[in-house]
Amino acid sequence: MVSIAIDGPSGAGKSSVAKELSSRLGFIYLDTGALYRGIGYYFVNNGMDYNDESIINKNINSIKIDVRFENGTQNIYICNDNVTDKIRTEEISKAASKVSSMKSVRKFLLDLQKNMATKNNVIMDGRDIGTVVLPNADVKIFLTASPEERAKRRHEELINKGNKISYEEVLKSINERDFNDSNRAIAPLKPADDAIVIDTTNYSFNQVVDKLMKIVEEKVR
Ligand code: DC
Repeated sequence: MVSIAIDGPSGAGKSSVAKELSSRLGFIYLDTGALYRGIGYYFVNNGMDYNDESIINKNINSIKIDVRFENGTQNIYICNDNVTDKIRTEEISKAASKVSSMKSVRKFLLDLQKNMATKNNVIMDGRDIGTVVLPNADVKIFLTASPEERAKRRHEELINKGNKISYEEVLKSINERDFNDSNRAIAPLKPADDAIVIDTTNYSFNQVVDKLMKIVEEKVR
């Protein structure tokens, strides 16, 4: 099986690029951030304090999480409830960032991610795919962009969806998440030693896709 790991900070364009590559290559695309968001959603939805690690540790193993590919898109089910759309809020972003720093949560989701790559040709995006989940991935990409550019893209996306959030708030949230994701003790956000780092600040979506397709074609032939 062929596996492609795409890591990087929030808003670097990982998921849209990975989706396009997966449709061109006919690979399954797993958005691993959605798994952490699903866990965050569970605790928010059940009114439990997601900052309290003892609560997380006590409940994590009873969460039923399923990833189903339906009509070519990934759907996340938490305890049989399709939460795919409900996990895309700022509140769940914060909860996901917090729970993803906890050992029990990372352990809980690790096998699910690894198993996916043993059965399918995959493109996975996340923070620790090239370093922890798929250390033997055929291609490792680290996609990044300046915090201001990422905040600008994310802000536009939220405004188009009808949210009234300001650019400054989005930038603050991006900076906080970068800090949490990069400074946690377990599986912090960082490029694998053998990852190709691509800064997309001054590239269009199509330019990034073309670059990645070239890299994939060179490495996986
Ligand atoms: O990519 P995203 O914004 O949907 O991810 C949500 C959170 O999950 C983010 O704060 C970092 C965390 N995450 C992680 O720790 N490891 C991954 N492989 C993917 C996401």
